Amino acid sequence: MLDRFNREIYYLRIAVTDRCNLRCTYCMPEEGIQLKSHGEILSYEEIEEIVKAAVRLGFTKFRLTGGEPLVRKGIVDLVGKLAAIDGVDTLAMTTNGLWLPEFAALLKRAGLDRLNISLDSLIPERYRAITRGGDLNQAIAGIQAAQSAGFEKTKLNVVLVDGFNEDEKENIKKFSETNRLRVRFIKKMDLKTGDYYGVEGGEGGNCSICNRIRLTADGKIRSCLFSDNEIDLRQEGFEAGFKMAIADKPEKGHRSLKREMIQIGG
Ligand code: 5AD
Ligand code: SF4
Repeated sequence: MLDRFNREIYYLRIAVTDRCNLRCTYCMPEEGIQLKSHGEILSYEEIEEIVKAAVRLGFTKFRLTGGEPLVRKGIVDLVGKLAAIDGVDTLAMTTNGLWLPEFAALLKRAGLDRLNISLDSLIPERYRAITRGGDLNQAIAGIQAAQSAGFEKTKLNVVLVDGFNEDEKENIKKFSETNRLRVRFIKKMDLKTGDYYGVEGGEGGNCSICNRIRLTADGKIRSCLFSDNEIDLRQEGFEAGFKMAIADKPEKGHRSLKREMIQIGG
């Protein structure tokens, strides 16, 4: 669907959970967030219906995010259901990779097309610090599992934090080449202050060509990462809600005070 600024909106990012097995410093506050209750979180049946409604409106590209999508029980079944929907041309997932050794082959078999894996440092202590406790070896094992499972065009998401990991850029580029990954550097953004940037190696962060909207785990459409406008899909009805959200999509991002990144899915 075209929005008011003549942008074709065809990409839906779906947060399937607000939980995560890491606590990255740029994504959530140290004390954590108020988690949504089971009843607030969209069921898999609802997500399936929402995706079908999106397809009817011309959406073709879908990405599962979180939190960490792999921590939600039954995620492989959801992937299978969504991948089977006629009109879902691309189904991708953004993950921190920690659980890919267990899940990569299952996801591939269920029909997932592509993976984006987050990895901000190749230095174990730094990785531990930025993720507040993560094990770099586990993340690297996850990347290898994705390759072994036959995923292609896998992207590596690297959040660059001023004065913390910029010195690793070249090294991470080399690592990506060696491991057949497409690297994307994302300068750390701040929802509250409205600091956002274009993604090096990707198309996010460029308002004039923005093609996406987001669905939170509790069923709200965010037409812009950097705006607090939300449409409650359960309340409005799925198709009508999408239309409202697209009509509502701002020309460019401003800032967002309502949620943390982990509740929106980046
Ligand atoms: N700035 C930039 N990117 C972020 N992400 C999460 N929080 C931020 C932030 N503050 C993105 C990263 C990560 C994905 C899950 O979300 O790309 O890999
Ligand atoms: Fe979890 Fe990803 Fe957020 Fe890190 S960036 S806390 S891995 S959702």
